[in-house]
Amino acid sequence: RRHFLGIAGLSPFEIEHLLERAEEAVAVSRSREKKKAALRGRTQINLFFEASTRTQASFELAGKRLGADVMNMAVANSSVKKGETLIDTAMTLNAMRPDILVVRHHAAGAVALLAQKVDCAVVNAGDGAHEHPTQALLDALTIRRRKGRIAGLTVAICGDILHSRVARSNILLLNALGARVRAVAPSTLLPSGIEDMGVTVHRRLEDGIEGADVVMMLRLQRERMEGSFVPSVREYFRFFGLDAARLALAKPDALVMHPGPMNRGVEIASEIADGPQSVIEEQVEMGVAVRMAVMEALLPEAVGA
Ligand code: CP
Repeated sequence: RRHFLGIAGLSPFEIEHLLERAEEAVAVSRSREKKKAALRGRTQINLFFEASTRTQASFELAGKRLGADVMNMAVANSSVKKGETLIDTAMTLNAMRPDILVVRHHAAGAVALLAQKVDCAVVNAGDGAHEHPTQALLDALTIRRRKGRIAGLTVAICGDILHSRVARSNILLLNALGARVRAVAPSTLLPSGIEDMGVTVHRRLEDGIEGADVVMMLRLQRERMEGSFVPSVREYFRFFGLDAARLALAKPDALVMHPGPMNRGVEIASEIADGPQSVIEEQVEMGVAVRMAVMEALLPEAVGA
């Protein structure tokens, strides 16, 4: 593959292969040296049109741990502020001959459009409410390391599914690997036709969590709700926040996950986010590993690979 744009279209074999590569990257990241030479001499540009802590930092570290020269484009101080378009910005960077562009954009499909124009490999770091494929991979790696498998597990994806690229990519990946996926959200935050993605729908958090192996909470994306119904955070937590009483409905060894950034006291109580079932920090660690795996797979002929 030349680009990595989404989980859609990946075979279970390709997903498993990336998870295996990521396991090796975990070992590299945990070693003292933390370095490979797989992308030595390669140039990686991170182009983020939307805010990010985890994804941008982990792509930067992943590139550096693979030996690449990594540049973070500061979009807020760039000519985008003077009205330059996405494509003109990308073509300008393309002329500087990078090997890989990592792109986050607020519009669904923008990263795929850009990939058609440039000469280098493009990685989707999140496009609107469409896909966030490396997030789904890091979630799968976290689950697999804790539970030993994905197939047959019941995974409840809970909260603001309507605005969530994380939910979409996770549904695609978890279904591909044989999990039973539940979409758990109030009616106002469920995309129409979600049943067609192979999930069972639950409109009460209690019903959706019951007996689950994994409870994946999503951030309430209030910034994407302009002009539509915006729930009050207090009311949202009362009906859809994960607290100890609700978590007790899941299996006793259920994992609690959240892609971050978290709204503590909105979709998840602090005591749960920091509690013994939470694997949220492990998800962040796995983020570096899967991003190393994806970039290495895209540039296989690199020096030392
Ligand atoms: N999960 C995630 O994409 O986090 P950031 O927005 O901080 O990158």
